[in-house]
Amino acid sequence: MRTILVTGGAGFIGSNFVQMVLQEHGDYRVVNLDKLTYAGNLENLEGFLDHPNHIFVKGDICNGELIGKLLKEHAIDAIVHFAAESHVDRSLEGPAVFIDTNVTGTLKLLEAARDYPLQKFVQVSTDEVYGSLGTEGKFTESSPIRPNSPYSASKAAADHLVRAFGHTWGLPYNITRCSNNYGPYQFPEKMLPLMINNALHDKELPVYGDGLYVRDWLYVYDHCTAVWKVLTEGRAGEIYNIGGCNEKTNLEVIGIILERLQKPKSLIRHVKDRPGHDRRYAIDATKIMTELGWKPSVTFSQGLAKTIEWYLTHAKWLERVVSGDYEKYYQEMYSGR
Ligand code: NAD
Ligand code: DAU
Repeated sequence: MRTILVTGGAGFIGSNFVQMVLQEHGDYRVVNLDKLTYAGNLENLEGFLDHPNHIFVKGDICNGELIGKLLKEHAIDAIVHFAAESHVDRSLEGPAVFIDTNVTGTLKLLEAARDYPLQKFVQVSTDEVYGSLGTEGKFTESSPIRPNSPYSASKAAADHLVRAFGHTWGLPYNITRCSNNYGPYQFPEKMLPLMINNALHDKELPVYGDGLYVRDWLYVYDHCTAVWKVLTEGRAGEIYNIGGCNEKTNLEVIGIILERLQKPKSLIRHVKDRPGHDRRYAIDATKIMTELGWKPSVTFSQGLAKTIEWYLTHAKWLERVVSGDYEKYYQEMYSGR
């Protein structure tokens, strides 16, 4: 039995990853460390919280003492690091917490990992560290790092720290850089679930600028299988881009959502753009596909249909998530925009 420390395992991607491991890899035990910020939700782990191979720990990755203790106490073999402040818009309003969690938190994990015989450290990063593309080309693992938002700058800083710990102290690491995820349990501050939620309630859909910004969408389960491949088969010291070859403009994605929910296009409202908005992301995933034999399991159309179905059948989850603080956030972010 191997044991992995998953950070941020009550968030969107982390909870999907934890569920995948517990369901598909019975010879692994998961210690799940999550601070339960506004984005962390134990409901995302419903049915798995009491799983015999799952130990949930509420705590902060900035607490180095706690991490050192968890590594030893549970004889951790590897760390898969998802925990982060993850929303670009929030990083424009308040960047400090992004530095605390994404940079200092990662540093604390690395320091604990350096002083312990860890077999693998997987830094779950983002294509946003590469900045923005024009109409041509894709990000490869050797594209220059040019982050444009405080969020992506904090992720890039963390990636550099991971690399430095590998170079200086021989920490066996991988960095993954994935494009935009969608799927079950995504918090509705992100575009796709926000638009689904608004459309379901016949509320306006706030499209930033001209809506022709391009993202490369990947179903969350496929991101999880890619991270698993990297954890178990990735060559130490390597970076792996992860993406689904599903480039779509925001208006295209919103159009499909409206069609599936049978809602009118008149709900679309163009609003003031995000400052510094990256125009286009596109991933060249050749390396992980050829070297590790990973490929996505669903097309965008299948993944989106599954996702919309999930939100329709989890109305209570959505209702709870958008009550309270979310209402305040939405007002602050969108009223008068
Ligand atoms: P999320 O915001 O849904 O979840 C983040 C989780 O981290 C939450 O459960 C939160 O409680 C926890 N957390 C935050 N600060 C913490 C701290 N100090 N200590 C412990 N736990 C803390 O994020 P997500 O969308 O699931 O993203 C997960 C990771 O994947 C992030 O590192 C993000 O940069 C990366 N990523 C996300 C996407 C995407 O499209 N969402 C794409 C590529 C990479
Ligand atoms: O590319 C990977 C990144 O994808 C991850 O690293 C981030 O954690 C994740 O949040 C995501 O970043 P984006 O900024 O691309 O995602 P977001 O869902 O915020 O926005 C997607 C697109 O939709 C983007 O062009 C902005 C636009 N948008 C977003 C919101 C919230 C709107 O037009 N209206 C909105 O209300």
